[in-house]
Amino acid sequence: MEKLSIEPLNKPFDIEIDSIASDKSISHRCAMFSIFSDKTSKIKNFLCAEDTLNSLSIVEQLGAQVKRDGSYIEITPTGKISEPANILDCGNAGTGIRLFCGLLSSQEGSYILTGDKHLKERPMNRVAKPLRSIGAKIDGRENGNKAPLAIRGGTLDAFTYESPIDSAQVKSAMILAALRSNGVCKYKENELTRDHTERMLSGMGATITKDDQGYINIHPLTGVLKPLEITVPTDPSSAFFFAVAAAITPNSRVVLKNVTLNPTRIEAYKALEKMGANIEYVEHENIYEPLGDIIVSHKELNAITVENNISWLIDELPALSIAMSLAKGTSVVKNAKELRVKESDRISAVVDNLALCGVNFTEHEDGYEIHGGTTLNKATINSFGDHRIAMSFAIAGLINGMEILDTEYIRTSFPNFMDILESLRA
Ligand code: S3P
Repeated sequence: MEKLSIEPLNKPFDIEIDSIASDKSISHRCAMFSIFSDKTSKIKNFLCAEDTLNSLSIVEQLGAQVKRDGSYIEITPTGKISEPANILDCGNAGTGIRLFCGLLSSQEGSYILTGDKHLKERPMNRVAKPLRSIGAKIDGRENGNKAPLAIRGGTLDAFTYESPIDSAQVKSAMILAALRSNGVCKYKENELTRDHTERMLSGMGATITKDDQGYINIHPLTGVLKPLEITVPTDPSSAFFFAVAAAITPNSRVVLKNVTLNPTRIEAYKALEKMGANIEYVEHENIYEPLGDIIVSHKELNAITVENNISWLIDELPALSIAMSLAKGTSVVKNAKELRVKESDRISAVVDNLALCGVNFTEHEDGYEIHGGTTLNKATINSFGDHRIAMSFAIAGLINGMEILDTEYIRTSFPNFMDILESLRA
C-alpha cells in the first residue's frame, strides 16, 4: 500500500499547466472505437494511465495492431475482431468494462471481462440487463451483476430503451451494441449525460441522431467507419483538482491548458464560479468537441446547493467538497446517489474523511450537507482505493497538510499528479 504525505503550501501560486492528464473518457473511446474502421486511427495525447492502457491492451488482444510512441498511438484494426485466448482485464475501469460489454455482446465470439478487486464489486446489471433484453448472453457472479463477466457475442435485436439511470456508460454500451444490431435502435435518457460517444462515432461516419421525442436513434453499421484522427484534450476532471487548489489558496491563479469545454464536462467549474471563484473560459478550437483554456483565480467562497445535472459534475464532487468545506455557509449535494457506486462509495468516503479533518457534515442517502467555513485539519485519511478521493484530499492538504493511504490508485487516471502538485511550491 502506497501513502503520501502532503505539506501545507503556505504561499500563493500563479501557474500555467499544460501537462495535466489527457481525457480518460475520450481515451477509452479512442481505443475502442478504432476497431470500427479498417484503416489506421491516429491518436495524439492518448492518456497513458492504467485504466486506458488496459483498454488499449484489450483492443490489441482483440486483434488490432497497436503502435505506441509515448502518448502518440496508432491503431490498425484487422477488419474482424478475433476471439482472445485470455481473460480481458479492465483493471479499475468501470468505463472500460461497461463499454466493452456492449461492444463485445454484439460481436461473434466468447469473451471474459474482469477487473481488480474494486471493479469486481461494482454493479454490472445496469448494462448487462438491457443488453440481455435484446438477446445478449452475459453471465457473471451474483446473477450476472458482478465481474468476471462471461459474454458470448452474437447479433442483437433492435431496441427502444428508456434508461432509468442517467449514465454515459450505459448509454455508450447500448450505442455500441446498436451499431451491430438488426435494426434502428432508440435510446432515451432523462438528462443528457456526457456525449463523447455520439460525437466521436458521428465524426467517424456513424448515423446517430436525436429525434423530437428526445430519443437517440442509432443506425446499425452497413460497413466500416472512417478512422479517428484526434488529439485527446486535457481531462477537465483531472484539471479540476488544480482549479480547486487555486480557488482555495489566497492570491492564486491557474491556467489549465487545452481542456475539453464540452458542456457536459465543465459543470463543476460553473459551480465553483457560482461559489465566488473567478473563472474564464477561452475556447480556441472545435474538433469533435470545443476545446480551450480555463483560468481560475481565488476569491472568497460561499456555500452552494448542487442538485441538477448531477452527471455533468459527478466525478468532480469529491474535489468540490474540499472547496465546500472552506466556503462560508452550508453547501448541499442532492440527487447524487450514483456517487455510492463509483470507484468507492464516494458519499461515505467524502464525509468520513472530512470528519477526520474536523469538518461538520450531514450525510443523506443521495448526498450530503457540508457545514463549511472553518478549516481543514491535518489527518490521516483513507482513499478507499479511489483515485479521486486520494487526489481531492491531497488538495485539501495544501491548507494544513495531510497523510493519505492507498494512493497507488492515482496512477489509474493521473500518473503525474504529484509532480504537478509539487510544482505549485516552485
Ligand atoms: C464515464 C461516465 C461516468 C463517469 C465516469 C466516466 C464515461 O460514469 O462517472 O468516470 O466515460 O462514460 P456513469 O456513466 O456511470 O455516470
